[in-house]
Amino acid sequence: MTLVDRRIVLGVTGGIAAYKVVQLARNLSLAGALVDVVMTEEATKFVTPLTFGALTHRPVYTDMWQLSEQTDIGHVTIGDRADLIIIAPATANTIARLAMGMSDDMLTTTVLASRAPILLAPAMNVNMWANPATQANIATLQSRGFQIIPPTAGRMAEPMVGVGRLAEIDQIEAEIRLALGRRFGALAGKRLIITAGGTHEAIDPVRFIGNRSSGVMGFALAAAARDAGADVRLIIGAASATPPLGTQHIYAESAAAMHDALHHEISQGCDLLIMAAAVADYRPVSVADNKIKKTEQAEQALSLQLTQTTDILASLKEHTGFVKIGFAAETHDLEQYAQAKLTRKGLDAIVANDARTALGASDNAVTVFHRNGQRWDFNRQAKTELAQQLVALFSGFLRT
Ligand code: CTP
Repeated sequence: MTLVDRRIVLGVTGGIAAYKVVQLARNLSLAGALVDVVMTEEATKFVTPLTFGALTHRPVYTDMWQLSEQTDIGHVTIGDRADLIIIAPATANTIARLAMGMSDDMLTTTVLASRAPILLAPAMNVNMWANPATQANIATLQSRGFQIIPPTAGRMAEPMVGVGRLAEIDQIEAEIRLALGRRFGALAGKRLIITAGGTHEAIDPVRFIGNRSSGVMGFALAAAARDAGADVRLIIGAASATPPLGTQHIYAESAAAMHDALHHEISQGCDLLIMAAAVADYRPVSVADNKIKKTEQAEQALSLQLTQTTDILASLKEHTGFVKIGFAAETHDLEQYAQAKLTRKGLDAIVANDARTALGASDNAVTVFHRNGQRWDFNRQAKTELAQQLVALFSGFLRT
């Protein structure tokens, strides 16, 4: 819900990357934001105001002196009422004018008249970006609280390779969501650790024991927590889905690696842990150094000796001071088993789901059991939507 009815000013300046930002305007509008596009005159040479207006369904501002034709909009209104300003692409010239505190066009006036968080995604020629003048202007703006979304390295419009390309649109969108979450979200200032995906337990250098977990549920929870303003540490086991931008990713493939990574992250501080990973319960007793070869006798069975992995959640029983949420994957007697795990693992709440339909799927139905006896049933729905509801519920646990 982060973006719904949020007033976002999208400042567009005159660089070739302006064409990419059309997609950003569309994404933000589709997510429910009220996007006011403010363009410099140079920007209109690359993309027309009509393009942005058609996607945002709102007027596009290019000239301060035409504003009197529109009712109730003064030259400072757009900046004053903004929840967030994003300037993308930000050219060296606009960056210099902002650093000087100028207000000689609609965009710089909007910025100067605003108290909203300002994000800046620069895009320019490699040498212009590296120039000490630009770097000094960036440092000045950073010291005034502007958040810079750095340009990336790669092939530029001109035949050059280097740092200066506009950050990816998905990355810019994630930063916008995080910045709005930090301003308005229920988890602003909170540190969340979320585990996601399955684990791989090695048999030999090329084989492992794994499960069907895709990581989708844990990733959706991480995205929802990011949108609610949390600083999210995402510990990823084996996952086929793509983890959300705007969260920190820590890779830990086996149960043992996940155990160590989690203990390390907790030692750095934690307000809420969501253990969504499908951790293996057993691993091979020993890992063969070389690839295990087939025997000559086809009928001869191969036996693998397995031993239990450490129960990561149970190993945290002594660690108090943060809220612990576990998941229970069951095929039968869901409530009974979930309640038993809630107690055995010392959890605040457990999310119970059917392992047959939950793992690897894009939707899910769950029941949350709290240690105080309360329960919440969530109907089958997309994991992305379910995650938003679960994060809203868990935010409430932080206050109790
Ligand atoms: N879990 C864990 N460490 C393990 C196994 C599981 O921390 N070695 C966590 C899971 O991440 C999950 C919760 O414990 O949050 C319950 O996992 P689940 O697989 O449902 O239960 P198990 O304890 O493994 O018991 P069983 O497999 O017998 O149902």
